[in-house]
Amino acid sequence: MVILIRPRLLLATIINLFLTSAAVPVPPWLGHDEKRSGGGGFVGVDGMQFVANDRTTVYLSGFNAYWLMTTASDPAQRAKVLAAFRQASAHGLNLARTWAFSDGGDKPLQSSPGVYDEAMFKGLDFVVAQARRHGVYLLLCLTNNFHDFGGKRQYVQWARDAADDDDDDLVITTAAAADDDFFNSTVVKGYYKNHVKTVLTRVNTFTGVAYKDDPTIFAWELMNEPRCDADPTGAMVQAWVEEMAPYVKSIDSNHLVTVGLEGFYGLGLHESKALNPWAIYYGTNYIDTHRAQGVDLATIHLYPDLWLWGATPAQQAAFFRNWTAAHARDTQRYLRMPLLVTEYGKFLLRWDQDQGANRSQRERDYFLAMVLDAIYDSASNGGPLVGGAFWQLLDDGMDALRDGYEIILPQDRQAATIIRNHSRQLAQLNGQDRRRRRYRSTSRDRKIRVGSSSSSAGDADTPPPRFPLISLARFVSVFRQISSFFF
Ligand SMILES: *[C@@H]1O[C@H](CO)[C@@H](O)[C@H](O)[C@H]1NC(C)=O
Ligand SMILES: *[C@@H]1O[C@H](CO)[C@@H](O)[C@H](O)[C@H]1NC(C)=O
Ligand SMILES: *[C@@H]1O[C@H](CO)[C@@H](O)[C@H](O)[C@H]1NC(C)=O
Ligand SMILES: *[C@@H]1O[C@H](CO)[C@@H](O)[C@H](O)[C@H]1NC(C)=O
Repeated sequence: MVILIRPRLLLATIINLFLTSAAVPVPPWLGHDEKRSGGGGFVGVDGMQFVANDRTTVYLSGFNAYWLMTTASDPAQRAKVLAAFRQASAHGLNLARTWAFSDGGDKPLQSSPGVYDEAMFKGLDFVVAQARRHGVYLLLCLTNNFHDFGGKRQYVQWARDAADDDDDDLVITTAAAADDDFFNSTVVKGYYKNHVKTVLTRVNTFTGVAYKDDPTIFAWELMNEPRCDADPTGAMVQAWVEEMAPYVKSIDSNHLVTVGLEGFYGLGLHESKALNPWAIYYGTNYIDTHRAQGVDLATIHLYPDLWLWGATPAQQAAFFRNWTAAHARDTQRYLRMPLLVTEYGKFLLRWDQDQGANRSQRERDYFLAMVLDAIYDSASNGGPLVGGAFWQLLDDGMDALRDGYEIILPQDRQAATIIRNHSRQLAQLNGQDRRRRRYRSTSRDRKIRVGSSSSSAGDADTPPPRFPLISLARFVSVFRQISSFFF
C-alpha cells in the first residue's frame, strides 16, 4: 500500500479534498514525488489453481502484516506476532503477506549492501517458524517500490554513495525518475540479487531449514507495487522482471514467484489502460509482465477509496466489479495462471461511535464481503481468482501502526465473522484431488455468500447508502481528531 506509515500524506489528501470541494478530486497519488501448510508440501501451480503435493487444491484466505519481522526482531515484542498468528489461525486464515526486507534506515535488515542485522534476521526466522506452527503460508516480499523501509530509493542511494567519478552507470535525469535507476543500473541490480540470494539461502535459526527449502513459504514477491515513472512503456520493469524472476528460480526452484504488481494496465499487447483508475498508467503492463519467464502467478491490489477518491460508494463498487472481472477475464484468456488480490482495503472512520463511524464501518464490512464473495465465486467455479489478502491485520494495542485500513479481529466483530465465514467456505474447496474431481461447484455453494447477512445491505448487489459529503463543521471536528491521533 502506498500510504503505509504516511498518515501526513493521507491528511494532506483529506485537506485537499475539502479545498477542492465537490470539484473533480485530485487522485492522491498524483503529484507527490515520490489450508494449512503443515505437511502440505510446496505449493505449485496446475493451470489456474494452486496445488500442494502436485495434486490437491489450495485456496488462500489471507492477510497483510508487513510488521511481523521488525516486531519479532525484539524478543520482548514477539507476543504480538504470536497473537497475530493465533488470531489468524482461529479465523481460518492460511496466508500472510509480509516484508522480508528493511533496506537501510533505523531498523534495517540490510543496513548497507550485503551487510545484515542478525537480530532482524532472527525476527524473520521467528515469523517463518511460527507461520509453520500455525498452518499459515507466507508470501514474502523482497523490496519496496516506495521508500517505506528503504526500497528502490535506498538501493539507488547506496549505488550513488559507492560510485566513483567515471561511473556512468546511473543515468539520472530528473529527481522523480532517479529512483527508477533501480531497474536499470547494473550496480543496483547486483545489490538486489545479493539480497535475494541472502534471504533465500538463509538457514532458519529456529527450525534449521533453509528458507529455499521451507514449504511454509508459499511464494516470493520481487517488489511491493513496482511502478516506473522513468519509462511509461513498461519496458524497463519488463526487462527487470525478465532478469530477476529467473534469477530467483536459479537459486530456489521449489517456490513460486510473483512480481508484486497492483494490476495497472499499460501499453503492452492486449492491455486496456482505459480500465485503470483515471486511465493513468504507471510503467507496468499487467498482461505482458506476468508472462515473463519465471513468473507463476498474477496479482492485483484494490483500494477503491484511494484510487477513486471522492467517488460514491456505488461508483467505487462499480469500479471494483469492473476491475476484478477484467483481470479475471484477462488472466484466464492470456495468462492461464492463478490470480490473487494480494492487497485490498477500505479506510475506516473509527474515532467516534456516532452515525458517521457506524456507517463507515458498515461500508468497510460491505466492501470486505464484496471482495471475498468475488473470490469465492471465482474459486468455486474454477476461475483464476483463487484467494486474497486484506490490508492489514493488527492486534489490540498496536495503535502506532494504525493507518485507517487495519482490521483488529478481536474488536472488529462483524469483519471478523465475514472473514471467518469466507475462510470456512474456501477451506471446503481445499484439499480436493485435482486429478479425480475438478471443482466442487454446486448451486448450494454458490448461493451462500458471506456478505448476504451483513447488516449493511441485505442484497450484496445493492450498494450501501452513499456516504454524505461531510459538512465543513464536521470536517473541522474530524480533522482535529485525526490530528490528535497522528501527531
Ligand atoms: C538504462 O541504462 C543504460 C546504460 O546502462 C542507458 O543507456 C539507458 O538509457 C538506460 N535506460 C533508461 C530508460 O534510463
Ligand atoms: C468498465 O470498463 C470499461 C472498459 O472495459 C470502461 O469503459 C468503463 O468505464 C468501466 N466502468 C467503470 C465503472 O469503471
Ligand atoms: C453504533 O454502533 C454501536 C455498536 O456497534 C451501537 O452501540 C450504537 O448504538 C451505534 N450508534 C448509532 C448512532 O447507530
Ligand atoms: C456466517 O456464517 C454463519 C453460519 O453459516 C451465518 O449464520 C452468519 O449469518 C454468517 N455471517 C456473515 C456475516 O456472513
